[in-house]
Amino acid sequence: GHVVVLAGGLSYEREVSLRSGRRVADALRSLDVPVVLYDSDASLLDRLAADPPDVVFPVLHGASGEDGAVRGVLDLLPVPYVGARPDACRIAWDKPAAKSVVAAAGLATPPSIALPKEVFHDLGASAVLDRVVAALGLPLFVKPTRGGSALGASAVHSAHELPAAMVGCFAYGDTALIERCVEGTEIAVSVLDLPDGLRALPPVEIAAPGRLYDYTARYEAGETEFIAPARLSPAVTEKATAAALTAHRALGLRDLSRTDMIVDRAGEVHFLEVNVAPGMTETSLLPRAVKAAGLNLGTVCRDLLLRRFP
Ligand code: DAL
Ligand code: MG
Repeated sequence: GHVVVLAGGLSYEREVSLRSGRRVADALRSLDVPVVLYDSDASLLDRLAADPPDVVFPVLHGASGEDGAVRGVLDLLPVPYVGARPDACRIAWDKPAAKSVVAAAGLATPPSIALPKEVFHDLGASAVLDRVVAALGLPLFVKPTRGGSALGASAVHSAHELPAAMVGCFAYGDTALIERCVEGTEIAVSVLDLPDGLRALPPVEIAAPGRLYDYTARYEAGETEFIAPARLSPAVTEKATAAALTAHRALGLRDLSRTDMIVDRAGEVHFLEVNVAPGMTETSLLPRAVKAAGLNLGTVCRDLLLRRFP
């Protein structure tokens, strides 16, 4: 038997996914796990049917990966795979839906408005701007409701920046999430289901001084300082890890997830989003958290595979 690591795909995060996939495949190979790395394209079904793997590790970011579509195909074959089921992915991937589920579970999340492109165009930029600023104030954060790696995301500090932010957002998605910008420290908490149970790893702090944690800041080595574990008090660390576990459970996720949050100056934790296929690149957050926890990425990935193919 063998394991397939599924990467690539056709989303905007294709290149990131290929890097994540190589990293996972290398980590597993270092433990002598027999791994094949597939770029997922139209031949995927044929390849999986011709030589069925024991289990799949999907490392597909963006649409079709994180929305659960490809996992639905794996369910049809059927081939077991690591991570959340398609129905849970679909909700987690849709930021407004995820925010409302975790808010119902008691987490704070910044107030926001989801605005479809059609509504923006029908109402006109200035009417939208008036409504949004009246409802949410400033500064704001604009991003596609479904997306990743900060593509199409931008901060809006004054009202005149909003139209350009909306246009930039609509280049990557049909609906914009306009969210009140909470000032504070951005952190990420990874959750793993390991043999000793579901656990949250140490929070990782993203210190991108004076700039947005954008695509370049994410994936160019040295562009961002990552601090793991984050410089938080024990009480705030506890709150943040509990919040990530709550999000993971409330959204019905499986095996692994990463919840991104802001810690404001009062030490309150605000949910931003959850990732069902967290980045696994050299500069990504989950691998840093694994290291900060004193774990090995290969061992962690193998343990996750073993959950689905004991
Ligand atoms: N969307 C990227 C891969 C991440 O969340 O790490
Ligand atoms: Mg994301």
